[in-house]
Amino acid sequence: MKPTVILGIETSCDETSAAVLETPYQLRGHIVYSQDEHSLYGGVVPEIAARAHLRLIDEVVKKALEDASCELEEIDAVAVTAGPGLIGALLVGVSWAKAFAFGLGKPLVPVHHMEGHLFAPSLENHDAQPPFVALLVSGGHTLLLYVQKWGEYELLGQTRDDAAGEAFDKVSKLLGLGYPGGPVIEQQSERGCDTRYRFPRPMLRKGATARDSEYYDFSFSGLKTAVSRKVEELKSMGMLEESRADIAASFQATAVEVLCKKTMRAVKEKGCPRVLLGGGVSANSRLKKELADELLPDGVLYYGSHRLSADNAAMIACAGAFRFQQGEIARLDLSGDPNLSLPGLRDYRL
Ligand code: KG4
Ligand code: ZN
Repeated sequence: MKPTVILGIETSCDETSAAVLETPYQLRGHIVYSQDEHSLYGGVVPEIAARAHLRLIDEVVKKALEDASCELEEIDAVAVTAGPGLIGALLVGVSWAKAFAFGLGKPLVPVHHMEGHLFAPSLENHDAQPPFVALLVSGGHTLLLYVQKWGEYELLGQTRDDAAGEAFDKVSKLLGLGYPGGPVIEQQSERGCDTRYRFPRPMLRKGATARDSEYYDFSFSGLKTAVSRKVEELKSMGMLEESRADIAASFQATAVEVLCKKTMRAVKEKGCPRVLLGGGVSANSRLKKELADELLPDGVLYYGSHRLSADNAAMIACAGAFRFQQGEIARLDLSGDPNLSLPGLRDYRL
């Protein structure tokens, strides 16, 4: 098949990113600009994110095209994250991509952000193809899927409240460690004792079966509340400073254990020892190590490098290439959708 050149655009949260992908896997240019203005506020401020995307997008795309030595005529399609995400942020990318595609006279391909995370590992490891059990863990989502083939996603479990990344971010805030929480919690954990505090492991009831709705689902808000109580208690005793690393380590161990156990339940039920880990939280070393260990001796774990596990446009171009191949082209009235549902998602549990 003739290679296709896809320009990918990602602006769903606080990364402004553009990539030029020549199918199947040649990443010719890739720029990711992480907006650091948000760390001042302890979380992403939607209004600031949207304005920053608007200021940056043109330059970011220009640089990606330059890096790729890509002439405009070479581009076959423009893929853009259409959702889910922050509406103002999404609208910047979608509007920019619409205008660009229209100006070039090329098709525009809408991409679901989480489908991007699903495709990301395949850019670096071409064996990361279905069938596999996928654990997608980001700041906004926690999804456990069984993927028989690209575009057909069986929903096994999801979070009932906070997303996994959100839990890391909230605990980090409680500990006064700032935003984003994942990397700092991981850093602190290295110096802490992970058995010092015993936090609840939500939805891991012994004896539960795949027919129970909580079998695969996640819940992180109770865990966050338990950490919050412990933090308050230690604060009142003037002991928070010396206990910070232990709390971080105990929290991380708990969150990772829950994520691993649920994933291994899916591996067992589906008889599929191939697991794909995606989304920002997949950068967590402990999560990768525990899952890889659990999958020994015959299983295999796929995940992306740091650059491709966090939000980026390369994954959007990659998922976009698949959707383009399927003939999915947006009309020019495409809008951003903060609650866009994953195309091809089937929830057999209903
Ligand atoms: O996929 P992502 O970059 O953006 C969203 O789509 O939300 O994920 C961001 C999330 C944040 O919550 C961040 O704290 C978390 O990923 N994260 C981590 C690590 N690095 C980033 N969580 C745990 N451990 C990490 N090393
Ligand atoms: Zn993401």
